[in-house]
Amino acid sequence: MNETISTILKRRSVRLFRPDPVGQTEFDLVLEAGRYAPSAMNQQPWHFTAIRNPELLGKLEENCKSAFLESNVEALREVAKQEGFSVFYHAPLMVIISGDPGAIAAQYDCTLAMENMMLAATSLGIGSCWTHAVMMFNSTDKGKAIFKQLGFNFPEGHQPYAAAVFGYPAEPYPETPPKNAECVTILD
Ligand SMILES: Cc1cc2nc3c(=O)[nH]c(=O)nc-3n(C[C@H](O)[C@H](O)[C@H](O)COP(=O)(O)O)c2cc1C
Repeated sequence: MNETISTILKRRSVRLFRPDPVGQTEFDLVLEAGRYAPSAMNQQPWHFTAIRNPELLGKLEENCKSAFLESNVEALREVAKQEGFSVFYHAPLMVIISGDPGAIAAQYDCTLAMENMMLAATSLGIGSCWTHAVMMFNSTDKGKAIFKQLGFNFPEGHQPYAAAVFGYPAEPYPETPPKNAECVTILD
């Protein structure tokens, strides 16, 4: 198996992080991997916002958690009610990829960029986890206003399409959850 395939198979959603920051050299490589993702007509309609400030991360976390608590999905409400639960898992770094909704396929472009970043991170020993609460929170007027209040200056008209936390895993990579192999049709 080559290294790329092995990295893809190794990536897991990591939910327990060491508090130390991600090294700048590694972080630059992860960002570069994001920027090299494919995008419809090479529009690259994205902007990467990295949050390393612990106070800001804490404030955003608190607010995003309310998106889970107020969700109409019972499973999300139940998870968020658990004592000590953090939607960001106390990670030292979050990246939000916002995009221009007027682009051909901003959501796909931003999601592909985030997957590139998560795979690059895995290859460098950095864990990651998609954090959907950010997009859920931003989908409400209250959430949008709070993003502004907290000083998030996404480029004009942009909306967050992908968000993930990054950091060094505090424990060995989690077991691979079941991956269904019965989802392929080949028409020869
Ligand atoms: C669109 C999307 C939203 C997700 N949202 C969350 C989330 O809010 N919190 C979380 O802990 N994991 C989240 N995940 C991670 C999934 O739970 C995880 O990918 C899945 O359980 C498979 O585990 P694996 O990533 O280790 O293969 C999300 C993944 C995707 C693709």
